[in-house]
Amino acid sequence: MEAVVVDAGSKLLKAGFAVPDQKPSMIIPTQMKRMPEDGSPSETSMTEDITVDPVVRGFIKDWDAMEDLLHHILYNGLGWEIGNEGQILFTDPLLTPKAVRERLVQLMFETFNVSGFYATEQAVLSLYAVGRISGCTVDIGHGKIDIAPVIEGAVQHIASKRLEIGGIELTNLLSQELGKSNPLIKLDISDVEKIKEMYACCAEDDLAYEKMSCQDETHTLPDGQVITIGKERYTVGEALFQPAILGLEAHGIVEQLVRSISTVSSENHRQLLENTVLCGGTVSMDGFEDRFQKEANLCSSAVRPSLVKAPEYMPEDLTMYSAWVGGAILAKVVFPQNQHMTKADYDETGPSIVHRKCF
Ligand SMILES: Nc1ncnc2c1ncn2[C@@H]1O[C@H](COP(=O)(O)OP(=O)(O)OP(=O)(O)O)[C@@H](O)[C@H]1O
Ligand SMILES: [Mg+2]
Repeated sequence: MEAVVVDAGSKLLKAGFAVPDQKPSMIIPTQMKRMPEDGSPSETSMTEDITVDPVVRGFIKDWDAMEDLLHHILYNGLGWEIGNEGQILFTDPLLTPKAVRERLVQLMFETFNVSGFYATEQAVLSLYAVGRISGCTVDIGHGKIDIAPVIEGAVQHIASKRLEIGGIELTNLLSQELGKSNPLIKLDISDVEKIKEMYACCAEDDLAYEKMSCQDETHTLPDGQVITIGKERYTVGEALFQPAILGLEAHGIVEQLVRSISTVSSENHRQLLENTVLCGGTVSMDGFEDRFQKEANLCSSAVRPSLVKAPEYMPEDLTMYSAWVGGAILAKVVFPQNQHMTKADYDETGPSIVHRKCF
């Protein structure tokens, strides 16, 4: 049985058996709804949905919910049998606290009785997905932006950056902007998220954004109401290049990348910048890649960032699940070569062995 690879994001959990040049077989929302024990609607659930987010800004926060979600994925979704569990590889977000890594190992060996475990950082895995071991990943997901320079498979932690801006902030921004232009319509945030995924885009540059007068488009909401969407769709993309739009003092995404790399020893700058890898669902926004490259070309540094193209044999929308694909590539190496954690390792040393075995 192939190992299972799990990339548990703040919005989407990607899971499946390790088949490297394919999409994960399961891509499901991480958010769950809490049901009363007896399954009947409780007083609170009559008035509001009680949603639970097991993963917040990349890190597992609600362990009970995560256990239920993984149970569903592994036994119902992927067909593991109780008593005959297989091997599993998890993707770690940048700067995962040691305690979170240890608790995951504990959950896997003690509750799920897995036969082998491995975990590696998402940045390294996203590079593997495009056939690199050195480069810099810019992962714009739902709950965060992780910028991580990687040299020979090792994340340069001191130079890495976690920005707490992600798809969720862009959804909230769009909701706020659409609220201004459609004051009579009550918008549901999950509808706004879908609108964002359909319409959000990036202008060619900041001047084009300022001068833009674009035609309003109309969109019919599931309840039949019709809203108009104009420049707001560009405001969403612009916020990544001008975070002031979100009320933040941070630099734009390209400047953040260049600054992050500038703290690594200068002999590595060229290799890192010329192997910039964009990943995460938000980078699939229309026009994002072109705007990123355009701003990169204007950088004053001697070496400018240039983007790595995904290999042709990879699925077209690789950026949506690069970390998972890299995990599938790595799983084909670590498990057959016995580099993973076994139950015997776990019993002998305890959860802390994860820091020595998995990197
Ligand atoms: N075409 C699109 N335009 C803009 N945003 C998009 C598009 N497609 C997906 N997204 C956004 O991408 C985000 C999901 O990306 P991804 O799956 O990488 O996040 P995640 O792994 O769940 O979260 P994280 O890694 O931050 O914990 C969501 O916010 C989603 O709305
Ligand atoms: Mg992610």
